[in-house]
Amino acid sequence: PATARLDDDGVLRIGGLRADELAAEFGTPAFVLDEADFRARCAAWRAAFADCDVYYAGKAFLCRTVARWVDEEGLNLDVCTGGELAVARSVGFPAERLLFHGNNKSVAELRAALDYGVGRIVVDSFAEIERLAALAAEAGVRQRVLVRVTPGVEAHTHHYVSTGQEDQKFGFSLAGGAAAEAVAQVLAAPSLHLVGLHAHIGSQIFDTAGFGLAAHRMVGLLARLRDEHGLELPELDLGGGLGIAYTSEDAPLDVADVAERLTAIVGKECAVAGLTVPRLAVEPGRAIVGSTTVTLYEVGTVKELPGLRTFVSVDGGMSDNIRTSLYDARYTARLASRPGSPTAHVVTLVGRHCESGDVVAHDVPLPDDVRPGDLVAVPASGAYHRSMASNYNHVTRPPVIAVRDGAARVIVRRETEDDLLRLDADPTDPTDPAG
Ligand code: LLP
Repeated sequence: PATARLDDDGVLRIGGLRADELAAEFGTPAFVLDEADFRARCAAWRAAFADCDVYYAGKAFLCRTVARWVDEEGLNLDVCTGGELAVARSVGFPAERLLFHGNNKSVAELRAALDYGVGRIVVDSFAEIERLAALAAEAGVRQRVLVRVTPGVEAHTHHYVSTGQEDQKFGFSLAGGAAAEAVAQVLAAPSLHLVGLHAHIGSQIFDTAGFGLAAHRMVGLLARLRDEHGLELPELDLGGGLGIAYTSEDAPLDVADVAERLTAIVGKECAVAGLTVPRLAVEPGRAIVGSTTVTLYEVGTVKELPGLRTFVSVDGGMSDNIRTSLYDARYTARLASRPGSPTAHVVTLVGRHCESGDVVAHDVPLPDDVRPGDLVAVPASGAYHRSMASNYNHVTRPPVIAVRDGAARVIVRRETEDDLLRLDADPTDPTDPAG
């Protein structure tokens, strides 16, 4: 239901609002997030995975307003740091519906999670099981946990975001036997209550085969645990990872199809193994927020290198979109403030940072007459953009503007230079508390 569209006047509308007016009011660069689209995607996941738990993965993008929307739409929330937990806590997100991830949660983070009463903690190492068992005992609670398993599935995606294969830092190996050992360790801790298993094979995935194979292996482990420990774990979390379309070459899977296939696979495998079907959970991040947002930039310079290429520079770059340089991600871009000439040329859209790898989008066609002052929109920039933004070169991070029914409001304000200076000690004042 993405509502960003180009009208005949060449002006992009997002949530019924003109890109040029949004830019005039809120400045550029800016992330413009379509609230109705976000809520519709939450609802679609809720409906598709009706008898399952859907955890929105906050790492894709989280702020207080989004945490509230997630709650209102009836989704649960996956947090992976004390910072994300603090956001959830600040809006009173029901603790019961939180899941806490991470391969190296600190004692302070585990304490905060226990203190808030987080529903589930996904344990990821032997050291953590020991740590959490002690902390839960100390707090006098019996904490529900899931054991994160590495199912040994190669997801066909960028290796930086692939997490199912054996050689990586997350989880307990299924094949190597660590997963079964972790289960035994949790079972031996009276302050921990093992409710299920978790697996996440990777991100930006377009093929259900990997999910199916992971589900198959996880059910296999559930059956083995039943045989060895006489217990049937009631929950199976299959993680996130559904891909979205960044360019026309990407063909995303349909949520309803995926839900149907996964529940069918798990149902069938459980029947074969004689297991009660566990309650499934999924953790979509990108598939919910990725396509809801466009980044608006203003063009500052156009530099033609005859016979080589044309660089179009915008007022943001790798500080608001690290994905292009980090994962060689592909994006589209279009003029958002006027129609432009009917003929286009292929340009390299670059940022303002002091680094030649600072590319926003490779090889995008823009009208021949693209010029300073034009607005350029980059769609599909809702996931892992603002959440991975940096202050490289002391650039302030852009705001997030939510649009809905023709109205816009700031849900994350633009950083200011004062925000940046605030953390520095004043070198002329030796008593400055920042030092
Ligand atoms: N669950 C777990 C345990 C995860 O590690 C992740 C993502 C998700 C759920 C959500 O995955 P999603 O549905 O968003 O694909 N920065 C990278 C992506 C890193 C993903 C990390 N984990 C990128 O920009 O492509």
